[in-house]
Amino acid sequence: MIIQDKTERLFTLQTRNTTYQFKADRNGVLLHTYYGPRIQGGDLSRLIRFADRGFSPNPNEVGDNRAYSLDTLPQEYSGSGAGDFRLSSLELELPDGSCVADLRYVDARQQSGKYTLEGLPAFFGSDSDADTLVVTLEDTAAQVRVELFYGVFEAYDLITRAVRIVNCGDTPVRLRRAASLCLDFPSANLDFITFDGGHVKERKPNRTHLRPGVQSVGSVRGISSHQHNPFVMLCQPGADEEHGICYGAALLYSGNFEAAVERCQFEDARLTMGIHPFHFCWKLEPGQVFTAPEAALVCSPAGFGQMSRQFHRAIRAHLLRDVWANRRKPVLVNSWEAFYFDYDHNRLLQLAKESAALGTELFVLDDGWFGHRDSDTSSLGDWWPNEEKLPGGLGALSKEINELGMEFGLWIEPEMVSENSRLYEEHPDWVLNPTGRPCTRGRCQLVLDYTREEVRDYIFHALQKVMDSANIAYLKWDMNRALTQVWSAALPSDRQGEVYHRYVLGVYDLLERVRQVNPNTLIEGCSGGGGRFDMGMLYYTPQIWCSDNTDAIDRLTIQYGTSFAYPPSTMGAHVSAVPNEQTGRSTPLETRGTVALSGTFGYEMVLGSLSDEEKALVVQQIAAYKESYDLIQTGDYYRLTAPSPDGAPTAWLHVSPDRRSALLCVVAGQTHAGPPFRLLKLQGLDPALQYRLTGDDTPWPGDVLMQAGYPLPMLNEYQSLRLWLKAE
Ligand code: DGJ
Repeated sequence: MIIQDKTERLFTLQTRNTTYQFKADRNGVLLHTYYGPRIQGGDLSRLIRFADRGFSPNPNEVGDNRAYSLDTLPQEYSGSGAGDFRLSSLELELPDGSCVADLRYVDARQQSGKYTLEGLPAFFGSDSDADTLVVTLEDTAAQVRVELFYGVFEAYDLITRAVRIVNCGDTPVRLRRAASLCLDFPSANLDFITFDGGHVKERKPNRTHLRPGVQSVGSVRGISSHQHNPFVMLCQPGADEEHGICYGAALLYSGNFEAAVERCQFEDARLTMGIHPFHFCWKLEPGQVFTAPEAALVCSPAGFGQMSRQFHRAIRAHLLRDVWANRRKPVLVNSWEAFYFDYDHNRLLQLAKESAALGTELFVLDDGWFGHRDSDTSSLGDWWPNEEKLPGGLGALSKEINELGMEFGLWIEPEMVSENSRLYEEHPDWVLNPTGRPCTRGRCQLVLDYTREEVRDYIFHALQKVMDSANIAYLKWDMNRALTQVWSAALPSDRQGEVYHRYVLGVYDLLERVRQVNPNTLIEGCSGGGGRFDMGMLYYTPQIWCSDNTDAIDRLTIQYGTSFAYPPSTMGAHVSAVPNEQTGRSTPLETRGTVALSGTFGYEMVLGSLSDEEKALVVQQIAAYKESYDLIQTGDYYRLTAPSPDGAPTAWLHVSPDRRSALLCVVAGQTHAGPPFRLLKLQGLDPALQYRLTGDDTPWPGDVLMQAGYPLPMLNEYQSLRLWLKAE
């Protein structure tokens, strides 16, 4: 609900459990007054104190009032160069070379339903689930208007923000920074949590107390990256899964981003989030509009778990769009870790037959099927089947696979080109690289210039020809290198600062076209695993390959970290062979299943080489997936313990919305002789209900399981448990 007091120019956004408020003061400065647990409201600008602070200057309109400074007031969208020296949201370069952005309130309008952003991902909502508020600010000297968009999803405690910047003058201006989110906190006594790592070790949570100055994470790799995720949290120092106020902030964007937090001189704090200013400079012609990507906020008054569950629910209901958003996904078998590049039609068919016999439903042909690609050094861009490996092409293969009762899926990497390809021979200027400069290779490949429509058109038609040649039910959209030498032959020199962002817009444009023309195809996002696991991609692809690391024990940490923002139903997770390709570790097949079953489930191995006993377990796992899918898809996720280096078990729980059934998953870490007895406290159950646990004849009261705990059996190293709880 949005409450506007037009006379006081006071705006209160109420969600089920939180309140967000801001107000335009008598000078037109938009002050942020409150964000936190739900309160009645009223004008909270009374919380703001004024004092004469040395070296904090005073805007012109307040004359000699030395107690009024933009440098000390909490701002809703900070300017720059006009007296607020903290993190800026907007940086302009004006025709005379000056760099000032100083915004004042103009007006506000409200509408029911959720705003949309052309060409950019955004949460969607109808009149019954969301409201929109648009507040216009202006820098009159610069003749630049800024529209702040707020989307309020009351049921999910979700507040979205986006920004449109309009050049109302008659000369071009340049945007050097255009944040999507600015959020001021009255106290800097907060912890900052970021999700960091690298390739094959993505999204590990890191928590630090705010120190004076700016702390930030971001990406300048052209993708949201394996190294840092565009999702961060701020919380009270004592906050944990079940207690304390915490804030989660996500950017719905798949390119360069920055999330920065500043602990300021008076022990207040500011968070900003948006496109990274590295090599960003957008030339805004008179009358033109620039739209900054959407940011999404959830505040939880009761710990991290509630914040995550609100994000999960909102993503499932208002971000995932296509027919696959809420449909059970087929159990897949993927050729990558089974064969890498070493296959032909018969070998693939053999894998499909063996896998179909055990109950898999979708056969995914990964890298290596096109051009003359026998390794990762060639053929990207040549999107036609290698007839030597696949006589009769994909049509013949997919037909035979369909005859086995399986769907057929395909890997593509449409943003890339190999120098050793016909596409590169014909269009060497279609890559991102300044003329005359030697290119930097990544995985032996170059990046296509997706800012150019003709490049996207070419790839679209090439892909569509492939799609039309076979019955393709699934696409894995991969992207395997970071961007370098970011320069487009199609843009003038004064627009090269737009290329990183235009690239991302180009990717979204092509994804949207592919989706529209193939509405029933399930698309899985991927960037060398989880290099582009962000809410922007989820708008186009309802699941994302979580990591190239398929080791069940490493995956515990990766999936745990990912779950802070993203629902398990979006996490691509497969059972692979042991010893694991990435770690050399051997874990029981049962445990590999337990971990993968809490994501989008599949196999990535030669199932025919398993023993009869293992094959029987695969059949059971597939049945278990079908049995638990609804719960994992629609239920609530509780992180019961964090993966621990000391070897303590990692545990999580899926609970149905009515709390009548739940699934407890536990994986033992490294074991040591003489382990302690462990009581595991569950969460999210109905305290008044009695639950029957798999293999236990005596029911357990919900309150006992939550307050006293469940006595975990002794587990051997890397052994796992999957126990159903059913209310009587
Ligand atoms: C990276 C992906 O993450 C892998 O799963 C696989 O598809 C390879 N690329 C293929 O090149």
